[in-house]
Amino acid sequence: MRKANPIRPRQKYSVRRILTLLVITLSLAGTIAGQTAGESATIETAAWLRYLRLDSKTRNRYAHLPANIVVLGKSPVLETAEQEVIRGIDQMLGRKLDEKTSLQGESLVLGTLDKVESLGLALPELIAPGKDSFLLAHGRIHGANCIVITGLNDRGVLYGSFALLSKIARGQSLGQLNEMQSPYVRFRWVNQWDNLDGKIERGYGGPSIFFANGKVRDDLTRAGLYAHLLASIGINGCTINNVNAAPGALEDSFIAQVRRIADVFRPWGVQLSMSADLSSPKIVGGLDTFDPLDPRVAEWWRKKVDEIYRQIPDFGGFVVKADSEGRSGPSTYGRTHADAANVIARALKPHGGVVFYRAFVYNHHLDWHDLKNDRAKAAYDNFHPLDGEFDDNVVIQIKNGPIDFQVREPASPLFAGLRRTNEAIELQITQEYTGQQKQLCFLVPMWKEVLDFDMRVNGKSSPVKDLVSGRFSRRPIGGFAGVANVGLDENWLGSPLAVANLYGFGRLAWDPNLSSEAIVDEWTRLTYGNDPVLVQTIVKLQLSSWHVYESYTGPLGAGTLTNITGNHYDPGPESSEENGWGQWHRADHQGIGMDRTIKTGTGYIGQYPPEVQKTYESLENCPDNLLLFFHHVPYTHVLHSGQTVVQHVYDSHYDGAAQAPEFVAQWKAVAGHIDEARYRDILARFEFQAKEADKWRDAICGWIYRLSGIPDNKGRVGGPASKAPVGKTTPGQTRGIPSVKPA
Ligand code: GCU
Repeated sequence: MRKANPIRPRQKYSVRRILTLLVITLSLAGTIAGQTAGESATIETAAWLRYLRLDSKTRNRYAHLPANIVVLGKSPVLETAEQEVIRGIDQMLGRKLDEKTSLQGESLVLGTLDKVESLGLALPELIAPGKDSFLLAHGRIHGANCIVITGLNDRGVLYGSFALLSKIARGQSLGQLNEMQSPYVRFRWVNQWDNLDGKIERGYGGPSIFFANGKVRDDLTRAGLYAHLLASIGINGCTINNVNAAPGALEDSFIAQVRRIADVFRPWGVQLSMSADLSSPKIVGGLDTFDPLDPRVAEWWRKKVDEIYRQIPDFGGFVVKADSEGRSGPSTYGRTHADAANVIARALKPHGGVVFYRAFVYNHHLDWHDLKNDRAKAAYDNFHPLDGEFDDNVVIQIKNGPIDFQVREPASPLFAGLRRTNEAIELQITQEYTGQQKQLCFLVPMWKEVLDFDMRVNGKSSPVKDLVSGRFSRRPIGGFAGVANVGLDENWLGSPLAVANLYGFGRLAWDPNLSSEAIVDEWTRLTYGNDPVLVQTIVKLQLSSWHVYESYTGPLGAGTLTNITGNHYDPGPESSEENGWGQWHRADHQGIGMDRTIKTGTGYIGQYPPEVQKTYESLENCPDNLLLFFHHVPYTHVLHSGQTVVQHVYDSHYDGAAQAPEFVAQWKAVAGHIDEARYRDILARFEFQAKEADKWRDAICGWIYRLSGIPDNKGRVGGPASKAPVGKTTPGQTRGIPSVKPA
């Protein structure tokens, strides 16, 4: 198993580390044994499912837990649920539940609602979007006190089992157990951008857990462990291959291999889905066209889908990226995205499958000379006119912001622009533009800002979470898609603390009303135990991390300041301009920011409902943190905070870079509260991040100074005492950046 780590030195298997790991392993005796057939997890791969042994005081709280467990009914998912409960309770409480085949005395009872009710127990009605709801309750059955874990379907029972175990792991009382939970949205999927050769696009956690050398891997242990993790947070689907899909993925011979992945997902209730290339009928099928309106093409999709369901009866459907970044699409034949989505949807319909059709469609050869051009407008321009034309098993998958997973973007106006079409929000768990897992950036607070953003559709409360769940427009289905990109690294994402983003995505997809604090508190306790010093420290670090990262990399919603034509990691503000990719900030010697106003700019703001337009259109109402996303202003423009734009850039970068080393200091408080190996690993990461923050600060401050010619009023940049490198250009020069008329 690969132990990749971009930061710490490779030699981490010192005798000391091995001994430490051994001690942990022994102290967790049995922890990881007992996964389903043939699987085994290490401490790292178990992620938040460690089921650490609780201290005796906490264990006593569960002294009244029944001694027996009984499952009503039989299915792979129910069996998984039962084994999980047995294992979790054994590890955390040191108690082996007695497996019974029928109800005998006080028991933990697992089963779907109809089965439980047939025992004579009246239970409250379950609300059921997507049917994955569950209920945890005490009940007296045939005179015995029981704990009931039930749901409308087997998956609900599994989710209820994980919820019960999570409560115990966090030391919560089971005294008044009567808890019903329903998922907010029907489809809660992760997308993996795995290529068939085993590499992962924008993956920072090692090679694919699914593919190697053009084939499905022989050893799918990690795929099973991944499904285990996903199920524990209510994720019910996983798309296994890159949205930039290799057509070969749909060859019959490949489907036969993919079937093995579906087999390891199934006991965890995780549906397998695939990314599909629209030109497959031509490239794989040998037709002379992939025109979605050609009957031969429709027939090809129908046969292909039938074959897939023959091999994978619970197949979820397809994710489609078309006419985007060089992918083939319906425009080849003058057809619409609705034509393209529907031809596939109709093939899936009889089997219950869905198409997630991505709204990430834009022209990446935009003419940057034209100040009216704006990539941010593309998703709405392409999809809003098609509202109502998509079949009811099509879901339009919309990135949270209109550009591409930047550290701050406004919510995409397309969420409000589709009223007769199903929607899903696409969030990026892998930190492509937010530090690539080398730096800490807990994204849940950022995601929540978007999910809670009120679009004021028809002047009514319409937060994004209610648009994508289908609640607001009464759509039958809706979804969350998280670009996860886990890999073979033992900690899945390449950094132990980054795993909180995967956990947080699942929890938000289940319930977007959970607070960031609650989510990270849960994750920390499940992963590291309930030691208050550890919990407080990690929670604080995670919760502050997005703002700190933003403050030294991306001021005032300016957009992409990273190296956009290269690694998407290092500072490279000049690379955003003078190319067709459209991630422009329009900085020149007079001012900075994209004018997206209706009045003088690109008109992007006009894509929002009227109340939102009012907020963004005027400088008076526009929030500082998105000012440069919406307006082009002189560097001397005064913000609501009272500070000028240029001084804000200096101050925020110096503040952020000063806070990064604070992470090191805060982390040192946990020495002795966590095993030495992980203590040192995470310490090294924070030390690295502090240096990266300095690098960013100097690059961005130097760049702004070169462009504006205005020195920092605290003397740190451009003044006589300046230490920041400001480059060779004379202050005030434009360095070839086209001059833009300031607002
Ligand atoms: C980003 C990312 C690409 C990816 C694309 C997408 O632009 O850098 O690697 O293919 O998003 O979401 O399709």
